[in-house]
Amino acid sequence: MAQVYDSIAQQYKQFCSSPFAIYVETYTYLNLIGDVSGKSILDLACGEGIYSRLLKQNGAARLVGVDISSEMIKLARLEEDKQPLGIEYIIADVMDVGFIENFDIVVASFLLNYASTKDQLLKMCHTISTNLKPGGRFIGLNNNLDLLPEFYHKSEKYGLAKSCLGPLEEGSPLTLTLTIDSEGNKVSFDNYYLSKQTYEWALRSVGFEDIRWHNPLVAPEGVKKFSQEFWEDGINYPYFVGISCQR
Ligand SMILES: C[S@@+](CC[C@H](N)C(=O)[O-])C[C@H]1O[C@@H](n2cnc3c(N)ncnc32)[C@H](O)[C@@H]1O
Repeated sequence: MAQVYDSIAQQYKQFCSSPFAIYVETYTYLNLIGDVSGKSILDLACGEGIYSRLLKQNGAARLVGVDISSEMIKLARLEEDKQPLGIEYIIADVMDVGFIENFDIVVASFLLNYASTKDQLLKMCHTISTNLKPGGRFIGLNNNLDLLPEFYHKSEKYGLAKSCLGPLEEGSPLTLTLTIDSEGNKVSFDNYYLSKQTYEWALRSVGFEDIRWHNPLVAPEGVKKFSQEFWEDGINYPYFVGISCQR
């Protein structure tokens, strides 16, 4: 996994400025996370730190980002050098990073879908739980596990393609292809399908309660800029979903 993201770090960063990333993904995620003033936050699979920076700028008191890819963390640290926000970045695998400290909130956008087995998912969930204060919240974004492959093409107009060879089974690889610029350049990488039941089992096994799944929202500025109709496929056939739960 580290090598994959090491080789596409810069391209992935480019996709983060696409309309879908800004008006749907970021808007949904920040809405779910809510007020972060004065909170300590651990951002797992932080990538090049886009959400770590946003959460710190939105008032988080402490922000630690963890990612397995040294190239992703290099980009995150470059941003930190350009505009210091006091974010600490750690290169590590979430499955074995262990206890860092007790945080108010743990966030992870597009981490859990890299688990290809129940055991890997459980290890990731264990790290989330271990680093949360009692009563702390976990908020994540994830591939939408309920979307049937016959509808995967519905997100292509937003620059997001997803495919699966064969039926969706526990551990099936999914190939994601992102269009990263207006010239149509693309970048592809794999993650894995595990059922919602498996996710809920893993979260409950490490002590989480009140597990909720959330559909994407579109920012009012995105509707104004592109029309409601433009976003309808993204809402009716969600490419991703939010997850929230409490320890
Ligand atoms: C799709 S990117 C998302 C990055 C960032 N969270 C965002 O939303 O922009 C997925 C990230 O997960 C990281 N990743 C995948 N498996 C990981 C693991 N086991 N431990 C730590 N990071 C992991 C990758 O290196 C990559 O940076």
